[in-house]
Amino acid sequence: MSRLRIFANDAPDAPLLSSRDGDEIARELARIGVTFERWQASAPVEPGASQEEVLAAYRADVDRLVAEHGFNTVDVISIAPDHPDRHELRRKFLDEHYHKEDEVRFFVAGSGLFTLHVDGKVYEVECVQGGLISVPDGTTHWFDMGPQPSFVAIRFFKEPDGWVGHFTGSDIAQRFPRYGEA
Ligand SMILES: [Fe+2]
Repeated sequence: MSRLRIFANDAPDAPLLSSRDGDEIARELARIGVTFERWQASAPVEPGASQEEVLAAYRADVDRLVAEHGFNTVDVISIAPDHPDRHELRRKFLDEHYHKEDEVRFFVAGSGLFTLHVDGKVYEVECVQGGLISVPDGTTHWFDMGPQPSFVAIRFFKEPDGWVGHFTGSDIAQRFPRYGEA
């Protein structure tokens, strides 16, 4: 089950709220313009499934999201704990940044930690299997896949070639919990 924790941005040791209730997570994130949904597969997705098989299992929701938002590209990314570039991949988005398009990810398997920094608060979202998160363009955030990353995710893009992180230079991410570390 996914989990949301909300902190004041100067109090990383004292969450104001912690919830694994999907409806509550969606409600709290909607206040800051972030979409959170839980999707069910229409067919089992086996380990090693092809991109086509993964997309087919979630076709109705994928098509709905594409129609609603006008995404031009949908792909499937898969990272295993023994990925040779896992440390480099993890480091890439560990610091606070934003994008000039929405960051939309659906977790087919595994998990990852999105942390958003909005209006003096920090929203830490552990996204697990079955969870969709859409971070609006311009929203400052960071993403941690953990030291032993394990996830399969569907990504939605309008301009994949323009997918770059604009880093704020803030060190706030270093003061909040890292994923998979005590
Ligand atoms: Fe990002």
